[in-house]
Amino acid sequence: TSTSASGSAQEPAAPAVQGAGSVKQQISNLVALSLRATVPEVDVEPIVEVCTGKFGDYQCNNAMGLWSKGKGSGTSFKNPNAIGQAIAKNLPACDVIESASVAGPGFVNIVLSKSWVAKRIQDMLVNGIKTWAPILPVKRVVLDFSSPNIAKEMHVGHLRSTIIGDTLARMFEFSNVEVLRRNHVGDWGTQFGMLIEFLFEKFPNWEELGSQAIGDLQVFYKASKQRFDEDAEFKDRAQQAVVRLQGGEEKYRAAWKKICEISRNEFDQVYKLLDVQLEEKGESFYNPYIPQVLEKLSSQGLIEESEGARVIFIQGHQIPLIVVKRDGGFNYASTDLAALWYRLNVEKAEWIIYVTDVGQQQHFDMFFKAARMAGWLPDPKEKKFPKTSHVGFGLVLGADGKRFRTRSTEVVRLGDLLDEAKSRSKSELLQRLTENGKIVDWTDEELEQTSKAVGYGAVKYADLKNNRLTNYTFSFDQMLSDKGNTAVYLQYAHARICSIIRKSNMDVEELKVSGNISLAHPDERVLGLYLIRYAEIVEEACTNLLPSVLCEYLYNLSEMFTRFYTNCQVVGSPEEPSRLLLCEATAVVMRQCFQLLGITPVYKL
Ligand code: ARG
Repeated sequence: TSTSASGSAQEPAAPAVQGAGSVKQQISNLVALSLRATVPEVDVEPIVEVCTGKFGDYQCNNAMGLWSKGKGSGTSFKNPNAIGQAIAKNLPACDVIESASVAGPGFVNIVLSKSWVAKRIQDMLVNGIKTWAPILPVKRVVLDFSSPNIAKEMHVGHLRSTIIGDTLARMFEFSNVEVLRRNHVGDWGTQFGMLIEFLFEKFPNWEELGSQAIGDLQVFYKASKQRFDEDAEFKDRAQQAVVRLQGGEEKYRAAWKKICEISRNEFDQVYKLLDVQLEEKGESFYNPYIPQVLEKLSSQGLIEESEGARVIFIQGHQIPLIVVKRDGGFNYASTDLAALWYRLNVEKAEWIIYVTDVGQQQHFDMFFKAARMAGWLPDPKEKKFPKTSHVGFGLVLGADGKRFRTRSTEVVRLGDLLDEAKSRSKSELLQRLTENGKIVDWTDEELEQTSKAVGYGAVKYADLKNNRLTNYTFSFDQMLSDKGNTAVYLQYAHARICSIIRKSNMDVEELKVSGNISLAHPDERVLGLYLIRYAEIVEEACTNLLPSVLCEYLYNLSEMFTRFYTNCQVVGSPEEPSRLLLCEATAVVMRQCFQLLGITPVYKL
């Protein structure tokens, strides 16, 4: 039927060609060739992971599964170890792998060739980090994030959604996936009646008002809510206003638009501070699609009458999904169904991702199931795409362990929060520069830009580094500390590398082309290997929708660099040209991590 998602979006991306994609992907391709030679009668996906032991860099774990499935029988294999031996032997000769050996029940340990690793790093330095983009099996993603509500407060939860969503978007974009960044603002619903009436009452000249004139919108929302709760006559008017708005009455549409516009200005200020791009397609956008979408679902027999409402019963859930309220109005769920229909059929997205607090998990779970019942989404066992995912996150807590609030106000003003992070990081920077007498080297502009990069970066990183599902405690002291796993520490680490490079008398740009990376020292090799894992880390973070994976990588990378730098003299050593290139590669990869996390890297600190 016409409701099912288009088939054109389901083709997987072309298989990775030799040399493209993550290192893990390339090893997997080689293992796949070996498996075809080893067990030609079996269709099996390669299982490749980073080596946990010290006998290899990557490992292939296929032998045991092949054996236990009985797939080894009928051939000459005596045991899983023998299958492992054959897999190792059948790995095609190439410049990637130096050697492969088999351990225990059949783990195939693969050692990468040092010169190949070195070449991969040097190629990246010459051709840019984009050559290290992973290859993902999707071409177009809808990322629904931030999405504050116009008639309610924009709280820290929306800040989390904004930060997490933006990072995910950046990671996909880096991986050459088209991302439709959607701000699904709550700009429709019954609360608008109250706001409109309050606007008429408070500002009879509302039509001429500029966007600043109402003053603080949060206060405006609160006051109108209070009026609504206390005065029955006002409440009555507000309810009629909703009807008139939805009926399309000019004056009410205009007032609604005005309120949205004022709100939008406020949101945009935060997005600008955070350097986040979003395209607003609010709930109102999907409103006209709701009737036809519900009509389709009805004709499939999915919608039933229940206690005056129209609902979809969903297996595993006691309460049905309400799609038309008892008063005939549409709700959050009906809008989300229409939006999903639109995203699948009009925008032809293959993966639709929603970033909200975990409290909404049940809602998403239910409406995803409804979409599957309607045949919009394939059975995940059969096909992977199109698919939907809910990216849930936990609460932001204050020092008291309760929901985070700032000192003076009940609501957290995001702009103020970022301002404070910036001013704190500025005063710390000033103090340090004054103490070590370096303040003379800094212009005011530099100071300002750096404190902003460090301060905002700290707020973002503190949010992103945790597994998103856990609650986290908001603490300026912690996030602005230069010790431990913080953005400040990482900014320092990066700036230090930049200063090493500056202090050397060699021309790095020239070296990239003419120099040669050698990974002779064990700590050089470890660093080099970790650098080339960059693509598979981004791949994993995208696949599992976990920005924390990238944070962990960034932090580990800086630790590995420290070990390398402690044990391998750079400036003034015979190995300086090669080691300088490793410094440069580390700085490039760190910067790219910062970029994906929405953090502006600084070059001196
Ligand atoms: N406006 C909602 C909220 O503040 C979030 C919207 C998320 N997106 C969606 N398609 N339901 O809770």
